[in-house]
Amino acid sequence: MSDLLAIIGGTGLTSLETLEITRKEMVSTPYGEPSGPITHGVLAGHPVVFLARHGYGHTIPPHQINYRANLWALKHIGVERIIAVAAVGGITARMGPGVLAFPDQIIDYTYSRHNTFFEGDLTHVTHIDFTWPYDAGLREKLIAGARAAGLQAIEDGTYAATQGPRLETAAEVLRLERDGCDVVGMTGMPEAALARELGIAYASCAVVANWAAGKGEGEITMEQIDQCLKLGMEQVRTLLRVVIPM
Ligand code: HPA
Repeated sequence: MSDLLAIIGGTGLTSLETLEITRKEMVSTPYGEPSGPITHGVLAGHPVVFLARHGYGHTIPPHQINYRANLWALKHIGVERIIAVAAVGGITARMGPGVLAFPDQIIDYTYSRHNTFFEGDLTHVTHIDFTWPYDAGLREKLIAGARAAGLQAIEDGTYAATQGPRLETAAEVLRLERDGCDVVGMTGMPEAALARELGIAYASCAVVANWAAGKGEGEITMEQIDQCLKLGMEQVRTLLRVVIPM
């Protein structure tokens, strides 16, 4: 078995400087073009692949990412595990800007996205189990890696996937909080469900970039988000160096 690991990078992580790149591979898929070529390389002595979710120039907005092409391409080249890095807004008190979190649940508020491989020319209807949307074994590795690296991380939490690309209203964030959500992002779904449909182990590494709408002072600015992510993604790079050999 190849046991190839992929890292999907989100906002703030369009490249991995710690990755020794060996080649780039463009994969064509029945679903169209992935966000970009898949970067093959070596990180901490192990082969890994990297894909920038929003494209390498960060030009594809969350609702226009071709999630099916991305996941299909990764499966096609033999990926069996995905660490999905994502910037999020913090809703609950423990999820302040700069926090690293490994959510264990999802509520999907997205719409009009191609959210399944199981449609079209079917011989039977398939419903995947999604009780626990993230892979338990991979989550344990992230948790153990963060502890080993001395990083403070929140080891659970519910991720709200919103449609975007606009940020939420304060009332929407209060509703997400009443629903039990801890963080909010725009790319967690359908990515996690598509990975499950393909049998790829998938776990999320979320970096809180800002207080979600109405939870902090004043307007949320992109400058604020970028600044916070710079520090947060440093923690992610440290984490990956420890987790990948595990
Ligand atoms: N809302 C949704 N997605 C996000 C946010 C947010 O506040 N911050 C970073 N991604």
